[in-house]
Amino acid sequence: MKDLNSRISGFYNKETEERQQILKERLNLTDGQLEKLQTDSAGLPLDVADRMIENVVGRFQLPFGIATNFTVNGQDYLIPMAVEEPSVVAAASNMARIARESGGFQTSYTGSIMIAQMHILDLNDTNEAQQKIQDAKQTLLDQANTFDKTLTSLGGGAIDIELRTLQLRNGEEVLALHLLVDVLDAMGANTVNTMTEKLTPEIEQLTGGKVLLRILSNLASYRLAKATVSIPVEHLATEGFSGEEVAKRMVLANEIAWADPYRAATHNKGIMNGIDPVVLATGNDWRAIEAGAHAYAARDGQYRALTEWQLEDGQLKGVLELPMAVGIVGGATKTHPTAQLALEIMGIQSSSDLAQLIAAVGLSQNMGAIKALATEGIQRGHMALHARNIAVQAGASNEQIDWLTKQMVSEKNVHIDRAKELLQQVKN
Ligand code: MEV
Repeated sequence: MKDLNSRISGFYNKETEERQQILKERLNLTDGQLEKLQTDSAGLPLDVADRMIENVVGRFQLPFGIATNFTVNGQDYLIPMAVEEPSVVAAASNMARIARESGGFQTSYTGSIMIAQMHILDLNDTNEAQQKIQDAKQTLLDQANTFDKTLTSLGGGAIDIELRTLQLRNGEEVLALHLLVDVLDAMGANTVNTMTEKLTPEIEQLTGGKVLLRILSNLASYRLAKATVSIPVEHLATEGFSGEEVAKRMVLANEIAWADPYRAATHNKGIMNGIDPVVLATGNDWRAIEAGAHAYAARDGQYRALTEWQLEDGQLKGVLELPMAVGIVGGATKTHPTAQLALEIMGIQSSSDLAQLIAAVGLSQNMGAIKALATEGIQRGHMALHARNIAVQAGASNEQIDWLTKQMVSEKNVHIDRAKELLQQVKN
């Protein structure tokens, strides 16, 4: 998608069909691709759903929106987001619009290295067991690499073993073996879980211990995605505040989230507002991403903000780094037709590309949240969008929704009772 221009002004105000047409034109989508957004049965056929999980009785739908205006590493992207919360897509797009004026987001990725854990118990001598594993490391890696020939033929596979000792509360020592595996474009859960299960007899024989747990770690600390952004403060000015004042307040907001776990939880939830919808839209495991993000946020012993914001030489600089174990092959990513379309919309070629784009969306979302919170407050923007939902809930017809929304916002009274009252007034 080299020549894509992701800047679409007024996308929000258009009808759904108009937005679909714009998407089609900008991305050269085929009618077949577009149909996945237009027809329920094409988006996720029931028989496909039935093969994905157990006891299927239907499908559950979510709004599928497009965040506009993103520039990441010099290239424009339209970003699909599946999410129920109003204002998320709007905030990400708005901040991406500000960011693109100064070059957009820069991102990087440490590689698709997953950690698979084996917890070894009942060891007579933990040090000796560690030594034996170290001595046999290459043999163990070679052995692990016989279990997924496709992965190794593509250049991936087990690359290292790390060991940690743990002390349980009953005083028992446990050896945690970390098998590091380059899973390339997969999320990698199945591959690495299989490797650890199959390696169990070798490890038990080698150490004389018993392997209790064999499973990946969601704290994918060797699979980090990082996004940065640098914004001249004048681009942040609002009606009530100079750009510099906005930037200073945003930095303070971030400092508070660094110091206060109660605030950090909410601050990081705002980041996940951007991340989860892309993870979900692409058929990836958002619980895995959530678990990894929050564990990473607590890596120094206190739960802290995942972002850093600093004011330097008239620029507001933001950084977000977090584990990002997402794939573009296998699992729901492959089977869910809309997830496939989501990848096509982004023009994603690798899990690396996807992980980096997701980090950029997370940073953009956080920027929007703390900018609003540290200035006019979150409710004004939220309320405008929330009002639409209230209007629908109150029973407004399609023609009445815009009018009712505007009326409630101008009255600063966004409430179902008021909506019903206003509808009643026009009826009489
Ligand atoms: C709401 O979904 C997200 C925010 O609470 C994030 C934040 O407080 O930073 C607005």
